[in-house]
Amino acid sequence: MTRFDILSLFPGFFEGPFSESILVRAREKGLIEIRIINIRDYTTDAHHVTDDYPYGGCGGMVMKPEPLARAINALQEESPPGYVVFLTPQGKRFTQKKARELAEKERIILLCGHYEGIDERIRESYIEEEISIGDYVLTGGEVASVVVVDAVSRMIPGVLGNEESFKNDSFYNGLLDYPQYTRPEEFEGKQVPDILLSGHHKKIEEWRRRQALYRTFKLKPEILEDADLTKQDLLWLTEIRKETGSG
Ligand code: 6GU
Repeated sequence: MTRFDILSLFPGFFEGPFSESILVRAREKGLIEIRIINIRDYTTDAHHVTDDYPYGGCGGMVMKPEPLARAINALQEESPPGYVVFLTPQGKRFTQKKARELAEKERIILLCGHYEGIDERIRESYIEEEISIGDYVLTGGEVASVVVVDAVSRMIPGVLGNEESFKNDSFYNGLLDYPQYTRPEEFEGKQVPDILLSGHHKKIEEWRRRQALYRTFKLKPEILEDADLTKQDLLWLTEIRKETGSG
């Protein structure tokens, strides 16, 4: 069981994403728990203010420290303790490796950033890790937190059925996926490759591996460096380089 506690100024945002598909089944099976916490509930002033002007001037607003500290402290009174992640474009890029790592945690507290960010003292004292989902700027951390919950959840044993197992994922094996086909055998004049209809399991496996290597070489060569490659893979890669005229 992995617990996700999401701290947000816009709890309504999550009504859609967490009430569909695989994540619903995972919640029903008791494999994950997702709670949405409204930061505004942890304000103490009459107007429930969560942001304020930055010291030193210049535009934008900053998320005030007190409601964040109160919210995180309240959550940390429960056990097990949560691993506190702040979602911000300044964080470290989220990767499959990080998803696998976070899937080992019992409890993750995700703080969704907004405006120009949060008071630096919260970053220093309450945040264990800062994560960004890519090099672009979103209006807030909510979309990113859904990405993280989804990617982490599917790494938790039992969340995916056998047929959709993450062991077959792109990236999991360090290579992009091989091409997939389903019926019909001919579609818009294009045939399914003969090899896949041949019934030669060993040859099909080889073809798929070579295709995965080819695609990775063409589309994401940088990930080949970290991939687990066999001697046969390296031979195929040499052939692929020759065929494509890249060295
Ligand atoms: Cl985590 N937050 C925001 N606001 N923008 C982002 C991001 C996060 N990751 C990429 N862009």
